[in-house]
Amino acid sequence: MRICRSKQAMRDCVNAWRAEGQRVALVATMGALHAGHMHLVARARDWLDTQGGGRVVTSIFVNPTQFDQQADLDRYPRDEDTDLALLRQAGCDAAFLPTVADIYRPGAQTTVEVGGLSRMLIGRLRPGHFRGMTTIVTKLFNIVGPDATTFGEKDYQQLTIVRQMVADLDMPIQIIGVPTVREADGLAMSSRNRRLTPGDRAAAPVLNRALDTGQQMIAAGAGLAAVRRAMRAVLRSEPRCELRSLDIRDAGDLSRITRIDGPVVMLLAARFGDVLLIDQRVAQP
Ligand code: PAF
Repeated sequence: MRICRSKQAMRDCVNAWRAEGQRVALVATMGALHAGHMHLVARARDWLDTQGGGRVVTSIFVNPTQFDQQADLDRYPRDEDTDLALLRQAGCDAAFLPTVADIYRPGAQTTVEVGGLSRMLIGRLRPGHFRGMTTIVTKLFNIVGPDATTFGEKDYQQLTIVRQMVADLDMPIQIIGVPTVREADGLAMSSRNRRLTPGDRAAAPVLNRALDTGQQMIAAGAGLAAVRRAMRAVLRSEPRCELRSLDIRDAGDLSRITRIDGPVVMLLAARFGDVLLIDQRVAQP
């Protein structure tokens, strides 16, 4: 596996592959990799196989501009050796690990922001988060120049925003959504899980139980208010769960709905101690 620690090294690597006629797929991560990320790499590989083969690049960059709180950035788990070992095992072709100084040159004035979608839901809890995310994702797209990229459905709003950005800005990149990978007890895999205390870790699967309840009720034809009430009751049964938001929105554009008459997405954000976890599920009446 090639290891590229600068934009130039990454560009040289991709240019050489392109000269051989290879396609390229990108998996953008902030490191602290787990089985969920390995699924992103595997789906990127699957896509390349459908195109006659190619190379998978995984970026590892803890992007400071998408953290609204310095403490959250400082505490973000970093474990480069384990990350690289996992990527080698997964058959990734190159890891891109740029420095903050290389990515953000002094005097830069340009950011990329997807209007309304970035300001709702998690965007209201974490102002500026999605602007930082879309700016770094655009920069990664420009450096790596991928034909396709995989994004996890767990970060459903992020995936929706990236799809919107690529369509709005005519970026010739295929966005592949990858279903959430869960631990045996239902907790969605996340780099943040390793910061949970044992008590909070035991409590956190309540998010998945609330989503199960919502999904069953929606499938059975229950109305919006009843579904929300039942999900809240499940979440309240776990005293360590500090609910920050529970939303049921149109699954396509995340707009508000007044009744459930098509595919919807249930979006949860909750604190366990000082760790904010999110989870989601698409459901159909
Ligand atoms: O989902 C993430 O890990 C990050 O938001 C991303 C897409 C790597 C951008 O920094």
